[in-house]
Amino acid sequence: MKDMFAHQLDVLSAQGLRRSLKVVASVQGREIVLDGQKVLNFCSNDYLGLAADPRLVHATEEAMVRRGFGAGASRLVCGNFDEHEALEHELAAFKHASAALVFSSGYMANTGIIPALVSRGDAVFADRLNHASIVDGIVLSRADLCRYPHKDMNALDEMLGKATGARRKLIVTDTVFSMDGDLAPLEDIVRLAKQHDAWLMVDEAHAFGVLGPTGAGLVEALGLEADVPLQMGTLSKAAGAYGAYCAGDALLKEYLLNSARSFIFTTAIPPAVAAAGRAALNIMKSEPQRRVRVLELACRMRDGLKKLGFDTLESATPIIPVMVRKASVASEMSQKLLAQGIFVSAIRPPTVPAHTARLRVTVSAAHTDEDIQRCLEAFEHAC
Ligand SMILES: Cc1ncc(COP(=O)(O)O)c(C=O)c1O
Repeated sequence: MKDMFAHQLDVLSAQGLRRSLKVVASVQGREIVLDGQKVLNFCSNDYLGLAADPRLVHATEEAMVRRGFGAGASRLVCGNFDEHEALEHELAAFKHASAALVFSSGYMANTGIIPALVSRGDAVFADRLNHASIVDGIVLSRADLCRYPHKDMNALDEMLGKATGARRKLIVTDTVFSMDGDLAPLEDIVRLAKQHDAWLMVDEAHAFGVLGPTGAGLVEALGLEADVPLQMGTLSKAAGAYGAYCAGDALLKEYLLNSARSFIFTTAIPPAVAAAGRAALNIMKSEPQRRVRVLELACRMRDGLKKLGFDTLESATPIIPVMVRKASVASEMSQKLLAQGIFVSAIRPPTVPAHTARLRVTVSAAHTDEDIQRCLEAFEHAC
């Protein structure tokens, strides 16, 4: 067994694809201490700069005093606290939905929701660049996986039309693609779902807190609430907390809490973690300037990178890919940036398709104008 492990690790090393862990010894933020080095951080998903906000910390401390730490059991046994219920009510209101169900993480939400909706004999239509947790949810469901080329609506139309033998059809898409930072053509997807009588589920992980007039996501930005019955998202990115949700109607919630295995067969998130999510929601509601700021900084960063000649694909969000294509070049550039005190992670296959390695720059509302300038200067010297 050990021979196999060593061999596989050698293969990854030879391909420049071996991963390793770095250690953060500071709070999460625009500047972190990484493996002992103080660096400007351009790779977290903490888009609103909330991960270390004292109000989240205080809410967590206060809830721990009242409720202790561990939930002690699954939600359906004796682990369903008043904090979970309150978070779900507040999330539903924030998402303009009648109900929300909290899961332990976005990964667990996707691997629980999808198999609760479809099974053998059904077909799921998924954008090729959807997040791995969606793919894993589909594999677990045993439904047929039909992957369409990224944002290719003609291909989706054709695939839906050909799936005449499928009992149910489900389309699943990220609304903001996590590695490209571009937007799903959601209006077209809604139209095709109606035309082909397919169900629709969206993953708002990277849109939640960032897009839409109140930060509810891309569905809100496009006014499609009535057309998208099932929206999941996570509290671990812009909300700076942990946990995830599925928002929809009360019947959907009732169905999922009776059928989603990743909800039923796991211990509830600690009530104090739910309290952190609530504190984050409050800040997202009361401080819309964070959303405005992060989008403004993202524009500045994208424009600067383009001026330097980099390809940033169709990014329209705080996620900005800098395409270098070769995995080894991505790793080298990331090292050169780090040597200048700038942390941008290299994203390589299998996280992205072969020959599309990149540096994934993310911007946060916590960054200063000077931070953006320093990052751009470092890129100029890293080529
Ligand atoms: C699109 C998307 N969905 C789901 C997830 C999983 O969310 P979580 O980190 O809460 O497990 C992520 C990120 O990790 C993601 O990018």
